[in-house]
Amino acid sequence: MEYVEKRVAQEAAKGVEASNALLTPLNLLLLGLFLYTAYSFLKPQPPAALPKDEPAVVFTTFTPRTLLPFNGEDNKPVYLAVRGRVFDVTRGRNFYGPGGPYENFAGRDASRGLACGSFDESMLTKDLDGPLDTLSDLGKDELEALQGWEERFNEKYLVVGKLVPVGEATKA
Ligand code: HEM
Repeated sequence: MEYVEKRVAQEAAKGVEASNALLTPLNLLLLGLFLYTAYSFLKPQPPAALPKDEPAVVFTTFTPRTLLPFNGEDNKPVYLAVRGRVFDVTRGRNFYGPGGPYENFAGRDASRGLACGSFDESMLTKDLDGPLDTLSDLGKDELEALQGWEERFNEKYLVVGKLVPVGEATKA
């Protein structure tokens, strides 16, 4: 009987020793980390924020005159027109914005200049209230070059409107 009691006492002491052995600083640290991780996973999450809407693209009708202010000055958007379509080229501000190599096209119908590869003033519609440039005198190579630019713009920029002559803008 004495033997049994002694053994029980021995085993109990072992248990205490074992639990002391478990309470090392490292184990406490790991336990803390575990509890913190479990808490992070289980704590109620705030509802996921809805993705912010892209700014709506408003399709606008421009005339050469109303397009003119979109030349990128005062940090405003930069637009240019190619064959009746107005592209928002603000992303390409370095090209078309003030001081850029192609700033002559900003706020203008750039079709003829792009087709002919020329920055000459004569490439741009002179009479902002007159008819649009029909490009009817351009040759095959020039029209092909223009198409190349259009394809590039289509891939890179958003169309934000159409370019019409003054008379047509007031019609509809
Ligand atoms: C000396 C001749 C020229 C050189 C060295 C030149 C050089 C360049 C370079 C390096 C780029 C940047 C390309 C990119 O990173 O996507 C560029 C873009 C452009 N070039 Fe020229 N270029 C020249 C002539 C012209 C001419 C004659 C035109 C048309 C009249 C023109 C129209 C453009 C346009 C519109 C872009 C920008 C396209 C965009 O918005 O992504 N370039 N050019």
